[in-house]
Amino acid sequence: MRNPDGLLVAAEDPGAIERAAVILLRGGLVAIPTETVYGLAADIRQPEAVRSVFRAKGRPADHPLIVHVECFDRVRECAVGIPSLAVELAAAFWPGPLTMLMRRSELISDLVTGARDTVALRCPANDFTLGLIARMGTGLAAPSANRFGHVSPTRASHVVDDLGSIIDLVVDGGDCHYGIESTIIDLTSARPQILRAGALTREDLESTLDVHFDTPSGPSRAPGMLLSHYAPRATVHLVSSMEEALDCAGRLFESGSRARILEHAEHLPMYAATLYGQLRAADDDGVDDVVAVLPPRVGLGAAIADRLEKSAVRREAGPA
Ligand code: TXA
Ligand code: MG
Repeated sequence: MRNPDGLLVAAEDPGAIERAAVILLRGGLVAIPTETVYGLAADIRQPEAVRSVFRAKGRPADHPLIVHVECFDRVRECAVGIPSLAVELAAAFWPGPLTMLMRRSELISDLVTGARDTVALRCPANDFTLGLIARMGTGLAAPSANRFGHVSPTRASHVVDDLGSIIDLVVDGGDCHYGIESTIIDLTSARPQILRAGALTREDLESTLDVHFDTPSGPSRAPGMLLSHYAPRATVHLVSSMEEALDCAGRLFESGSRARILEHAEHLPMYAATLYGQLRAADDDGVDDVVAVLPPRVGLGAAIADRLEKSAVRREAGPA
C-alpha cells in the first residue's frame, strides 16, 4: 500500500500511540483499528473535532457516535444511572464487540449523541486503541471509518480509499478480526433490547448471563440502521443456498452481466470477516451483480443476514 505523506502508521510502531494522541489532542481525526471494523476517532471533549467527524464521513448530524472507552471507570464518567446489568455485561464481554446504550452524563455533548439523552459505550479489544484511549485520558467518539452509506472498512487500505485525503492519520492494525460491527444493546428501555445484531451473538449474550433480549419493533432506535447502509455499487442478489447462487449467477452471466458469488457462506466467522472486503473488491473490479447466500439468522448469521439485506436495498431507496 502507498503511504501518501506519512498518512499511515503501523499499530505496533513504538511511536504510534503518541503520534495519534498528539493529533487527536489538537482536534484532528485518526482512523483506529478495532476487532470489528476501523473507526474514525475524535476527542469527545472537543466540539470542533466531533463536528469534523460528521463532515469527513458526510454523515447526518442526528446519527449519534459510539464513545470508545478503555475501562469501566471511564464508563462512570460518561454515563449516569448505570444498571447492574452493564457491570455484568462488561465483566463478561469487554474488551469486545459489545456496545451498551446508557443515560449520558454531562461530559457527553449533544454533538456526540445527536441530542439524545443516551450514550453508546464500547470497549474495543485492540491493544493499540486501548493504549491510545488510556494515553488520552478520555473517551474517543468513533463511527466506522467509511464515507456515509459505504460498507465499513476492515483493513487500513479501505480507510485510505474512502477518507485518505481528508483525515490526519490511519493506524494500520491489519485485517479486523470479526469484520462486522459490534452488537448494540439498549439498557435504557424497560427490558434490554438488541438494537443492532453484531459480532457478539444473541446466543452468547443470553447464555452467559441468563438474560433475554427483546428485538425492537417499530422504528429503529438507532438512527440509520433501517436504511440502505452497507451498500456497494453492484446490485446484490440474495439467495438461500449455493445451488441457487449458481443458478442465479448463471442467469446473470447469460444476460451479459459481470456477476460474482460471495465466498465462505458455509463458514460464518470467515463469511463475516471477508464480507465487506468482498463487496469493496466487487466494486473495484467493476462487477455488476453480486450473488450472496443469506445464512440462517442464528449466531453470527443474524448480523451477516442483516448487513446483506441492507446491502441489497437499492440506492434510490436510501442515502448515498
Ligand atoms: O463495531 C463498531 O461498533 C464500530 C467500531 C468502530 O467501534 N463502530 C460503528 O459505529 O459501527 P457507527 O457509527 O458506524 O455505528 C454506530 C451505530 C449507529 O447506527 C448509531 O445510530 C448508533 O450506533 N448509536 C450510537 N449512539 C447511539 C445512541 N445514543 N442512541 C441510539 N443509537 C446510537
Ligand atoms: Mg457505520
